[in-house]
Amino acid sequence: MACEEGLEHGAGAWPCEEGRGQGAGASACEEGAGQGAGAWPAGPLGPAGPDLRADLAGIPLANPVLVASGTFGYGREMARWFDLRLVGGIVTKGTTLAPRAGNPPPRIAETPAGLLNSIGLENPGVETVIREEIPFLRQFGVPIIVNIAGERVEEYAALAAKLDGVEGVSGLEVNVSCPNVRAGGMLFGTDPAASAAVVRAVRAVTCLPLLVKLTPNVTDIVAVARAAREAGADALTLINTLKGMAIDVRRRRPLLGAISGGLSGPAIKPVALRMVWEVAAAVDLPIVGCGGIMTGRDAVEFLLAGATVVAVGSATLVDPLAAPRIVTEMAACLAGEGFRSVREVVGLAHRAALEPLAEGSEQS
Ligand code: FUM
Repeated sequence: MACEEGLEHGAGAWPCEEGRGQGAGASACEEGAGQGAGAWPAGPLGPAGPDLRADLAGIPLANPVLVASGTFGYGREMARWFDLRLVGGIVTKGTTLAPRAGNPPPRIAETPAGLLNSIGLENPGVETVIREEIPFLRQFGVPIIVNIAGERVEEYAALAAKLDGVEGVSGLEVNVSCPNVRAGGMLFGTDPAASAAVVRAVRAVTCLPLLVKLTPNVTDIVAVARAAREAGADALTLINTLKGMAIDVRRRRPLLGAISGGLSGPAIKPVALRMVWEVAAAVDLPIVGCGGIMTGRDAVEFLLAGATVVAVGSATLVDPLAAPRIVTEMAACLAGEGFRSVREVVGLAHRAALEPLAEGSEQS
């Protein structure tokens, strides 16, 4: 075992402290509030604003908004759009041992309120990532979490061993949930025992904080979450995409080259929220909530459901500035609701759900 301490589970961050954050106030959380504000100061709202700092399984974050794997590459393109220091952390594109060319095109299809992708884990391979991409990202001083994917358990372990000790790598996100590959990926993540085998093998070779990214394409996500925890996960990311497809009527064939793909975007937000809720209630690990977050208000919903932090994915593809905008919107939303820190919001809706609705209070 490479590390004893690494086996300790992070202290789940919810429930929150008693009696905080119940302010009724009219709200900066209204849909669209803060959008297009145009500016995202490093400390949104200044010193009087809420404390946005978060701790993700021992990784200190300046704010709780990560950019999700696969929607941000390795940051090079996005660094032309905004200062990457404005996000809480960067999760890289899924990285494999050998370079991968990915799936045949078309790889993207728009759907109502969503997006199908079948990229197929295109990436330059871990050696190139360590040599060229991590040093590029390191200059921003933001935590870097490398998403790792493989076809066999041994590949995940080999990836973790290579990334362990690489300067600037703050953690690993073990991807057992990619729906777009024939071997590995989601095939691990739909089976609790197989997920555990991957996590155990990775845990054995690294002390880095381990996030495990779960698939929603299961009947019982809690069973997989529990298995990952028992095997040594420090945090859970949920959810990855929902497997779906689109048909091209004119060509009378599936629209995507790989036939099926993973659905993301606002269409999956209710599913993601429900899964975050269930896992937060059952498993004592920090959660990265992900799935259709487009606004600061969406992000706050995930925190209330039990996510310790959130990850912004498809929104970046619509609006390259989405992640820093969401940081600012979230700060405004929290301040408007009377919260003084992100930490006090996490999981708060679980407590409220146990209380009867006050007479005359509205259900919104
Ligand atoms: O196809 C892809 O590269 C997607 C990866 C993922 O969903 O993890």
